[in-house]
Amino acid sequence: MSEPTLTPAMAAYTRNARPHLHGDELAAVEEALASGQFGHGPITEQFERDLADFLHVPETVAVASGTAALHITLLACGIGPGDDVVVPSFTFCATVRAIEACGANIRFADIDPTTLCTGSAQIREALTDKTRAVLPVLYGGRPVPLGDLEDELAERNITIVEDAAHAFGSYQGPARVGATGRATCFSFGPIKNLTCGQGGALVPRTHEEADQARRIRLLGIAESAARRQNTTTYRVTGPGLRAHLSQINAAIGRAQLPHFPTVQTQRRALWHTYARHLNELPEAIRLVDVDIDHAVPSLCAILVDNRDRIFKTLREQGIGAGVHYPPNHLQEAFAAWHRPLPATEHAAARVITLPFHHAMTERDVHVVTTVLKEALR
Ligand SMILES: Cc1ncc(COP(=O)(O)O)c(C=O)c1O
Repeated sequence: MSEPTLTPAMAAYTRNARPHLHGDELAAVEEALASGQFGHGPITEQFERDLADFLHVPETVAVASGTAALHITLLACGIGPGDDVVVPSFTFCATVRAIEACGANIRFADIDPTTLCTGSAQIREALTDKTRAVLPVLYGGRPVPLGDLEDELAERNITIVEDAAHAFGSYQGPARVGATGRATCFSFGPIKNLTCGQGGALVPRTHEEADQARRIRLLGIAESAARRQNTTTYRVTGPGLRAHLSQINAAIGRAQLPHFPTVQTQRRALWHTYARHLNELPEAIRLVDVDIDHAVPSLCAILVDNRDRIFKTLREQGIGAGVHYPPNHLQEAFAAWHRPLPATEHAAARVITLPFHHAMTERDVHVVTTVLKEALR
């Protein structure tokens, strides 16, 4: 079925996810273009302050992508060659690439089979004498509290860097993810809870870490762009990437942010609707619990036997099913870091993510789950 012939309702669920615009973005981009400053600039810095206000944190650092946020945070925390970094294999390969880009060793951890997140038991099992950082991934938007392990990691001088690419807006306890004292990284890619088109941000733990991250995102140049205008030279110090957030992308994020309360309500309601409909299906399907009272969900993941057959049937029926994620410890590029991870392998062979985006209605969910029911026969 080719896309142009789809009805609007069908179009809502033939993709696993799609960008959502609230209507203010075009004018915001026009303003950014008219400013004549397309790179890092005042709109980017205002977006950083807007994010900080939203999260109730002192400052944030906007960057070009979620991958860059992870890479820059690890570098700003001093992670490099010889260090081990613990990361779940069950994540997008971007998380692993960020560690690799720092020259650190990748130490894959298994997941909790009910949450598909790496919890304290799995992290503890993966720690080594050389571990300098752990990267919990907030799969589907689920917060990852680590209990007593958090103090133990602090005593051992091991930094927690949260991959919250899926979890913008989620809560851990009373605070939003990002405001819990951990270094936190967000993605604002096209289909995330908040989008800049492409972009990301990190929440540093200290002002020094923020300064360091700002230098790294602009090639390691010590002076800010504003200060460089009145000098005939600049100093290049420490590590550096080309990873600032453009004014154009920041303008999209700024236009989206005031609408976030609606996004939060819609995404939680959609998840509840799926939960209700899936509850009526055979027990062979298990909805992955995202801790909906705290999460602003970005995925609706289920576990099923005969996954490949069911996935194929869904796609053939025009349902935009996805697989998040093929595990990284089985990828050729990361073969050097392979270790057996039974819960990850079990989940990765069964997971399907269902279409999940703002435009979906109760009727769309009904269609998806009806096709799923047929596929199970
Ligand atoms: C879990 C996870 N981590 C990191 C990233 C990387 O974010 P970006 O695509 O903005 O670089 C993604 C992107 O989808 C992701 O899903």
